[in-house]
Amino acid sequence: MKARTLPALGGFALGSLALTLVLAAPAVAEPVEISISCGALGVELKLCTEGVRAWEKKTGNKVEVVSTPNSSTERLALYQQVLSSKADDIDVLQVDVVWPGILASHLIDLKPYMGDDPKGHFPALIENDTIDGKLVAMPWWTDAGVLYYRTDLLKKHGFEPPATWAEMAKAARAIQKAERAAGQDGLWGYVFQGRAYEGLTCNALEWVDAFGGGAIVDGEGEITIDNPRARQAMAAAASWIDDISPKGVLNYDEEAARGVFQSGNAVFMRNWPYAWSLSQSVDSPVKGKVGVVALPKGGADGKTTGALGGWHLAVSRYSKHPKEAADLVKFLTGESEQKRRAIEGSYNPTIVALYKDADVLKANPFFGELFDTFENAVARPAAVAGPFYNRVSSAFWTAAHEILAGQAKPGPRLQALEGELKQIKRRGRW
Ligand code: GLC
Repeated sequence: MKARTLPALGGFALGSLALTLVLAAPAVAEPVEISISCGALGVELKLCTEGVRAWEKKTGNKVEVVSTPNSSTERLALYQQVLSSKADDIDVLQVDVVWPGILASHLIDLKPYMGDDPKGHFPALIENDTIDGKLVAMPWWTDAGVLYYRTDLLKKHGFEPPATWAEMAKAARAIQKAERAAGQDGLWGYVFQGRAYEGLTCNALEWVDAFGGGAIVDGEGEITIDNPRARQAMAAAASWIDDISPKGVLNYDEEAARGVFQSGNAVFMRNWPYAWSLSQSVDSPVKGKVGVVALPKGGADGKTTGALGGWHLAVSRYSKHPKEAADLVKFLTGESEQKRRAIEGSYNPTIVALYKDADVLKANPFFGELFDTFENAVARPAAVAGPFYNRVSSAFWTAAHEILAGQAKPGPRLQALEGELKQIKRRGRW
């Protein structure tokens, strides 16, 4: 076997005196080669690669950047395949905030490598990443669903940013009608993520939460989805299809929705913060015409909301270079990288102090205005469902998709969903 560092070899072969001498000399580590998987939505891959190159320069190690599918659902399937075969293909994995419970058994404990870093992050995220006492991931950026709107169109037609979903639908309908009559045939009122995947779970959870219908499963693990407010929320969303939202929205992910909005063809869009910096890029047709607010309430007694999303970094148990991989995680999730990513790509930091950073706030005015939305974002039931979360989510998005597509009515479908979730709960024993 090839020796990788002098201290390891010396310590093993020469006993304690020699070990002391070897350790006292500067460790000349031979460079290693590792790999990291990154997402590729918008500028994600570019920002990841730039961060990785900076670490290579600092350490002399080499990193292969592997791009992964845009859909969180497809990415999870890919990771499960790689990890269940114990393959060492990917050392550092970009993991969704809802996966630590699903992937924990394949990930190393990062605590020994992170020093005091975890203390600077939102405590809820560190808690999210701590499974059975092990820190299996480090937060990289956080997400909450927000509402984008066209400032020019709302102003022109005399609307304020909507406080309720009914106000959103009313403004969307009126503006769509007037603008189409004036010749903009392709304009739609509202675009969101309606494809049957994890993104729809986030959207539908937001509707249900906004109407006061809970979060699918409550903190005690009780299934709560079959309730009148959830039915009302789902009925409202279903009524948008083919009225203010194109039928094609049933196949939209984040990038499809952004494509329509950024090319000037939608009044409102639900998306994550990353869409902000892209909408303001030099070649964006809607540059200077976009506002961002919290997602609307269900009604006067509902609440503004936003699903908690975000991506974290983890190290595979099957990595041959866990130390270097963990060091890359420490570097990428550290303050200077998070600041750069916030300014260049509107990725919300997970380090609390950066929300007081003048450069970050200048690039993303809504980070300050919506701080409460980010801090109080509604979590998907990943902590309680643990390894069973993906089954819960898939049952939920399937039901939501059928309701949106008009294949099922909210009442009976949510009742059936409650039954399906109870079965998953029995199997998951939570
Ligand atoms: C965003 C979120 C992530 C979520 C995904 C759904 O990437 O950060 O948490 O699962 O969207 O599409």
